[in-house]
Amino acid sequence: LNTNLIFYILAYLIGSIPFGLLLAKTFAGVNIKEHGSKSIGATNVLRVVKETNPSLAKKLGLATVILDAIKGTIILLIAQAYGVSEATLWTIAVLAVIGHCYSIYLGLEGGKGVATGLGVFLVLIPIPTLIGAIVWGFCAKVLKISSLSSLLGLLAVIIAAIIFNNGLGVGSNAPMYLISFIIFYKHIPNIVRLIKKEELKAV
Ligand code: G3P
Repeated sequence: LNTNLIFYILAYLIGSIPFGLLLAKTFAGVNIKEHGSKSIGATNVLRVVKETNPSLAKKLGLATVILDAIKGTIILLIAQAYGVSEATLWTIAVLAVIGHCYSIYLGLEGGKGVATGLGVFLVLIPIPTLIGAIVWGFCAKVLKISSLSSLLGLLAVIIAAIIFNNGLGVGSNAPMYLISFIIFYKHIPNIVRLIKKEELKAV
């Protein structure tokens, strides 16, 4: 079996692990796919678990964001150490995000790709990602709306990447746009709620 193919399969299978769902089920006994935004990400873990246990909610939310980010990062770092090409790294990144958003363990349902996107972008385009994370943190503090902050942070990553990393080492921004498109597409229900001024709060 071709090494790249093994990395691709691993990226999708590891990306598919729904840490938020598992943590909320295990430690708070709640199925977050049936509550709040029904997403499996850190925001919904925080939102749903907070109703019964605010201090546990913060811990589980933080653990979810870290684990969802790390699952993309780790496979990329292993592949990088293995010396695969930049194009292979970007393919791995795309597949990890697809795994998170369309999980094989959840009948191709899943999360919105923000934390996993952050994890892979951090390895591949660190400076734009740090700028995006700062924008995200600032927006989250001021607006207190997770989805809008995520989308604005993502926009900042794209703009910064265009300025700093043109070509991304593969001669094209396409893989970054593809990951961004998946994240954006998964946020359509949030965007509809934002327009109707009905977006759910997390904190
Ligand atoms: O990271 C996901 C966030 O942007 C939105 O989550 O649960 O409010 O749809 P949620």
